[in-house]
Amino acid sequence: MVESGLFYSTFVDPLLVKIRKKTAGHIAPGQKIVDIACGTGALVFELAKKADFVLGIDLSPSMIKKASHTKKKHGIQNTEFRVCDASGLTTLNKHEFDVATLSLALHQFSPQLYNSVLNEMKRISKKIIIVDYAVPLPENFWGTGSKAIEYLAGREHYRNFRTFYKNGGLESILKENDMTIETAEYFVQNIFHLVVAHPNHSKQ
Ligand SMILES: C[S@@+](CC[C@H](N)C(=O)[O-])C[C@H]1O[C@@H](n2cnc3c(N)ncnc32)[C@H](O)[C@@H]1O
Repeated sequence: MVESGLFYSTFVDPLLVKIRKKTAGHIAPGQKIVDIACGTGALVFELAKKADFVLGIDLSPSMIKKASHTKKKHGIQNTEFRVCDASGLTTLNKHEFDVATLSLALHQFSPQLYNSVLNEMKRISKKIIIVDYAVPLPENFWGTGSKAIEYLAGREHYRNFRTFYKNGGLESILKENDMTIETAEYFVQNIFHLVVAHPNHSKQ
């Protein structure tokens, strides 16, 4: 699904500040990072405060336009943005990056994409950080609110969210895709799940 950068930066990004900071907490100075499905680049800019270089890629030209505008406006040198499909990152080399991140995107991908996107992340980076909805979501205002937001995002979006949920969320999907989870934490009223993982070497 291709989304609008202006809408996302106005209404969604401000809600996610804590998630970006938590993710950046797993980055070491000097690292080279790729943020897959980077949206407006909010996570890229947070990671760039610590990392040597951060590349953001997204399928939506509107998102990349917004991210590139912010980069230029704030003169952030150690970042780059490209329109790219996460399921075929043919211009990126094997183990080119220390870390690949994927934030709040897997739940909206069609399940047919899980394998190709995760395989590309494993190919281009040594370590993987993924943030997405916790499964199960808590049975409270926050959990119900998250489901309502996904419902309101449209039929295809909600169908993909439900499939992500039925598949058991990050932990199950990553294990099925030959990854070992190093650490996992829950935050923001336990609605988000952050997982640090690495590819199983025998399968590489
Ligand atoms: C919910 S947004 C998340 C954006 C950002 N990662 C964040 O944390 O705010 C999902 C993003 O996935 C992008 N996207 C969807 N399909 C994609 C694909 N096949 N390849 C790359 N990006 C994709 C959308 O354009 C959108 O920007």
